[in-house]
Amino acid sequence: MALPPWAEGEPARFPTDETALPRTKQRVRSSSLPDSLRPVLVLGASGTLGGELCRQRPQQVIQLGRSELDLRHPARAQQVVRSLQPRAVIHAAALTDVDWCQRHPRQCFAVNAHSVAAVAEACRQLGVPLVYVSSSFVFGQRWPGGPWQEHHPPCPGNAYAQSKLLGECFARECPRHLIVRTCGLFHHRPSRRQGFVENVLAQAAAGKRVRVVCDQWTNPTYVPELARAIWFLLEACSRREALWGVYHVVNQPASTWYEFARALLHAAGYTTPVEPIRTGEFPAVAPRPRFAALATEKYAQLGGPPMSPWPQVLAGCLRRLPSGRSVRKLQTGTSLSRRSAAPV
Ligand SMILES: NC(=O)c1ccc[n+]([C@@H]2O[C@H](COP(=O)([O-])OP(=O)(O)OC[C@H]3O[C@@H](n4cnc5c(N)ncnc54)[C@H](OP(=O)(O)O)[C@@H]3O)[C@@H](O)[C@H]2O)c1
Repeated sequence: MALPPWAEGEPARFPTDETALPRTKQRVRSSSLPDSLRPVLVLGASGTLGGELCRQRPQQVIQLGRSELDLRHPARAQQVVRSLQPRAVIHAAALTDVDWCQRHPRQCFAVNAHSVAAVAEACRQLGVPLVYVSSSFVFGQRWPGGPWQEHHPPCPGNAYAQSKLLGECFARECPRHLIVRTCGLFHHRPSRRQGFVENVLAQAAAGKRVRVVCDQWTNPTYVPELARAIWFLLEACSRREALWGVYHVVNQPASTWYEFARALLHAAGYTTPVEPIRTGEFPAVAPRPRFAALATEKYAQLGGPPMSPWPQVLAGCLRRLPSGRSVRKLQTGTSLSRRSAAPV
C-alpha cells in the first residue's frame, strides 16, 4: 500500500527502561503462571469499548489507559507489553475523531497504526495473540453490491481510515492476530467523547434542528454485545488456531445515519423531527464513506453470542442510562458544532 509521507513511522527515540511500566501494574507480571491464569492486557481501557471489555472480565485483565501508557511512544509500548507478559493483548485504543485525525495525521497514524506495529512485535516475541479493533471506514468509497465481507479489498478514504488499515497491516505481523472491524458504536453508558449519539441527543435537548446525512450507511453497534463477541472470538481462536484472522462484528440491519438518529430520538422520547440531508450539504473536514455497512456471516458461523437487531437494543439501551445521568443530563454541557452530527 502506498503511504503518504506523514504516515511514515517516527524513529524509536523514547525511553525503554523498566520505569516505563506503571508501578501499580508491575505486581501482575506473571511469567510463572500457567497461560490460562495470565491476564489479558487491554489498551484503551478508558475508552468506550476498552472500558466495557474490562467491565466484562474484571478479574482477567490488566487495564492501561493513555495516562499510564501513551501509545504515541512505540518503543515504550513495546517494552511495557513485553514486561507485563500478558496472555493476549486487545488493542482498543485509537484516536477516533475522524475530522481531528484529518487535521492531525501524524498523531493519528502514531496512535492508530504505529503503536500497533510496536505491540504486534511484542506479541510476536512473546508468542501471544493480538486483537486489533478496526473500522468499517477502511471500506466505503465504492459500492460492493452488498455489505462488505472480510475478504473484500479495503479502500480507505480519509486519514483515520488509512491509519486503521495500516494498523491492520501491522497487526497481521503477529502470527496469532484477530482484526475485528466494527462501526457506529453506541452504549448505555454516556461516552466522555462527543460521539454521534451524544450529539444527536444534545441537539434535540437544546431544541436545535437535527440534520443528519441520509446517504451514508453504517451498522449501529451496541458496545456490550461487541465486547462480548470479542471475548468469544479470542477464546474460540485460542482453542482452534485456524480461526485467527479478520472478523466483522456489528449489529444488523445496515442503516443510514439518518435512520439511526430517528430511532435514537424516538427511543429517548423526543418528538424532534430529523431532517435528512445529503453528504454534499454537510461539509466535513474528512470525507466519509458512503457505504460502510458490514456483513457478519463469518462471525455468526462460529456460533458465538448473537448480535441483536440494533433497533431492539437501542430502546433498552436508553432506558438503562444510569438515573443520575439521565438522557437529559447526558446532554448538558455538550458543545454544539456544525459537524456534531457527523458520522464517526
Ligand atoms: N466509536 C466508533 O463508532 C467506532 C467505529 C468503528 C471502529 N471503532 C474502533 O473501536 C475502537 C474503540 O473505539 P471507542 O469508540 O471505544 O474509542 P474511544 O471511546 O474514543 O476511546 C479511545 C481510547 O483510546 C485511548 N487513546 C487515545 N489516544 C491515546 C494515546 N496516545 N495513548 C494511549 N491511549 C490513547 C483513549 O484514551 P483517553 O480516554 O485517555 O483519551 C481511549 O481509552 C477503536 O479502535 C476505534 O477505531 C470505533
